[in-house]
Amino acid sequence: MKITLDYNNMMSDYIGNYGIKIEDITALKPQIEAAISAMKSKRPGMAWRDLPFNQAEVVKDIKAYAAAVKNNFDAFIVLGIGGSALGPLSVQQAINNPYYNELPREKRNGYPKFYVIDNVDPERLANLFSVVEPEKCLFNVITKSGSTSETMSQFMIIKELLDKKLGSGAKDHIVCTTDSKTGNLIKIAGHEGYKTFYIPAEVGGRFSELTPVGLLPAAFAGIDIEAMLKGAAGMDEICSNDDMEKNPAYMYAILNYAAMRQGKNICVMMPYADSLKYMADWYAQLWAESLGKKYDRNGNEVWAGSTPVKSLGVTDQHSQVQLYTEGPFDKIIVLVGVQNYRETVTIPKLYSDLPSLGFLGGVTQNKLIQTEMMATEYALLKSGKPNMTITIPEVNENTVGQFLYFLEMATAFTGELLNINAFDQPGVEEGKNATYAMFGRPGYEEKKRELDSRPAKNEKYIIL
Ligand code: PA5
Repeated sequence: MKITLDYNNMMSDYIGNYGIKIEDITALKPQIEAAISAMKSKRPGMAWRDLPFNQAEVVKDIKAYAAAVKNNFDAFIVLGIGGSALGPLSVQQAINNPYYNELPREKRNGYPKFYVIDNVDPERLANLFSVVEPEKCLFNVITKSGSTSETMSQFMIIKELLDKKLGSGAKDHIVCTTDSKTGNLIKIAGHEGYKTFYIPAEVGGRFSELTPVGLLPAAFAGIDIEAMLKGAAGMDEICSNDDMEKNPAYMYAILNYAAMRQGKNICVMMPYADSLKYMADWYAQLWAESLGKKYDRNGNEVWAGSTPVKSLGVTDQHSQVQLYTEGPFDKIIVLVGVQNYRETVTIPKLYSDLPSLGFLGGVTQNKLIQTEMMATEYALLKSGKPNMTITIPEVNENTVGQFLYFLEMATAFTGELLNINAFDQPGVEEGKNATYAMFGRPGYEEKKRELDSRPAKNEKYIIL
C-alpha cells in the first residue's frame, strides 16, 4: 500500500503554457544534483530521518506506560503549540473516528477522550472544563525548548488546578515530553517527579512528529505507532532514491521550486477526506516555517518560500475552487485523494422521475467524492492551472507514516534547492522574544528598548 504522486497536470506538455517545461527542470540540473548530494552527505545530521529505525526502546516505554495508566483517565489532553501540537492532532484525526470524543468508551477501545489545546485563548481552556473534569485527565505537556510561553502558561494553570484538587496525587496527571537537558520543563519535571519522555536534541519541533511528541499521544488514542514508523521507514527507502523520476519527494520539491521560480508562490493542499484536513494543517506549518526565510545559506537576502494554503475537498469546491480555476496564475494545487475510504455509504435510489437528482441513486458517496475530485482536476486542467495529485490507498497508520515522512523529505529537499536553512525559525523567535520583552522578562531589556523605539502609531490611520 504505497502513496503515489501523479504530476501530469504540472507539466506544460499536458496543461499548457502555465505548466513546467521539461527544459525548466533540465535547467535546474546543477541545483538538483547539489541537493541530492546534500541530502546524502547531511543524512547523519538529519536525526529526524533515523526516527523510523532507532526507537524500539522508546516505543516499548510508551506502550507500557499507556497500557498501565490509560484506564485511570477520562481524557488525554495535549498542551503544546506548533510542531508540538499539530502532529498529534493531525494523526489522531486521520486515524480515529471523526466523532471520537462523543463515542462511548468501549467504542474507543477503552481509550480516553483526546484533546489538543494549542492556543492561549482563555475561552478555549476555560470551556474545556465544561466537558472534562481536570482531576480525571492526563495532561501531556509537550515543548521541545521547555520554555515556550504558551505551553508553559497552560502548564502552570493546570498544575495549580491539579495541586489544589489532588495534592500529592497531582503528579500522576502530568506527563512531559521535552528535551532531556535544556529548558525549564525538564528541570520542573525532575523536581516534581513527572513521568517524562524525551525529544532528541537534534530533532527540531516541526520534524518531531515521529518522536514521543507524536507517538505518546497516538498511543493514548489507540493508534498503532509501530505501524506508523514502519510506513515512514518504507517511505524513507523510496525517498532515498537518487533518481528524481522514481523519488516522489524529490519530484514534488522540484516541481514546487520550479513553480516558485515562475512566481507561483502559493501552494494549496486540498485533501478529499475529512480525516486528512488537519494533516494539511500540519503540513502548512512544516512548509511555511521551514521554507519562509529571509537569508540563504550564503547570507544573501532571498525572502524565500511559498505560502501553503489549506483547503478541503469537496467542501471548498463551494468556496475556493472558483478562485483556483479562474483566478490568477499564482499558485499550484495539490489534490490528495483516497482510493479506499474506510466506510461505504450508498445514496438510495429515490426520485428517479427527476433526472437531475435521480442520477445519484445507487451511487456511493465514495464514488461521488472521488468523481468530484477528478472533476476539479479536470476544471483546473481546462483553465491551465498547474496541479498534482497524491493518492493515498487507504488512510491507516502505515500510510499516515508514509505521508508524514514523504512531506518531511519534500520540505527538506525544497530547502536544499532554495539553499536555505529549513531547520531554523528566526522569524518565530523574533515574535517570541518580543513577547518576553513586553512582559519585562529578565534578559530581554535590550529587546524592550528596541521595541520602545519603534515609531508611535499615527492616529489618523485609526478609525474609531
Ligand atoms: O517547528 C518548530 O520548531 C516550532 O513550530 C515549535 O514546534 C513551536 O514553536 C513550539 O516550540 P516548543 O516545542 O519548543 O514549545
